Amino acid sequence: MQDKNTSFGFEDVSFEEKVRRVTNVFKSVAPHYDLMNDLMSGGLHRFWKDEMIKVVRPAPAGRYLDVAAGTGDIARRLKKALPQDDTSEIYLCDRNPAMLSTGRDNALDQGDVDRLTWVCGDAEALPFPDDSFDAYTIAFGLRNVSRLDLALQEARRVLKPGGLFVCLEFSKVRHPLLRSFYQAYAFHIIPKVGALVASDADAYRYLVESIERFPEQSLLCAHMKDAGFGRVTYKNMTFGIVALHSGVKIETK
Ligand SMILES: C[S@@+](CC[C@H](N)C(=O)[O-])C[C@H]1O[C@@H](n2cnc3c(N)ncnc32)[C@H](O)[C@@H]1O
Repeated sequence: MQDKNTSFGFEDVSFEEKVRRVTNVFKSVAPHYDLMNDLMSGGLHRFWKDEMIKVVRPAPAGRYLDVAAGTGDIARRLKKALPQDDTSEIYLCDRNPAMLSTGRDNALDQGDVDRLTWVCGDAEALPFPDDSFDAYTIAFGLRNVSRLDLALQEARRVLKPGGLFVCLEFSKVRHPLLRSFYQAYAFHIIPKVGALVASDADAYRYLVESIERFPEQSLLCAHMKDAGFGRVTYKNMTFGIVALHSGVKIETK
């Protein structure tokens, strides 16, 4: 029997089983992913993502990596924040070909493909050399990886010394009343919308359950420090429904 070392929603599963199931979830939701984001968050995900870009503050002629890039929302926002004639390179990396191809098709349709490089790869074993990037971003991706600490170590490895790590992720709402409203919405409404729009209530039930199992704000800071990040900090948005964590790769002698 395989060890159950990680979680898939509320279930404890092996690393391999989580990879398999998460792959199926995103294969299933890929065609409806962008629409579902707008419906589930009432458009708020756009604001959260814009705030993430403000934390990154992309500078011209940089090298940027967006991991768990999905359909490319963050990478395309990074590009938009840079001057038009800029020479920055922006890499999008995701393990799921269905999410990447949905995103690339949309980008192609909108004529927004230059300076973007789409790479199919795993956050836990990134296909990039050490010290490659000025900034690493991951939005709503970290809770889907099987080995959080490994993904953080990989993020640190591919960053240049002094490079910036920024994570946007669902987090913990502290206020008890707001928390119960939010949970009622998340557990009862989101899977129903998922069933209606994407014909897959289970996938959206997983997304909600995975939020509950993900380390809260200060615990994620502790994981980041353990992985070798310095100047670790976070800011809550929308009462802590999401949090923006950031840290810098410091050299350890
Ligand atoms: C909720 S989506 C986020 C997409 C995008 N970042 C956004 O904010 O819209 C999560 C993405 O994480 C990807 N993912 C899950 N585990 C991964 C891993 N180990 N390595 C790379 N990508 C992974 C999934 O394929 C999926 O595209």
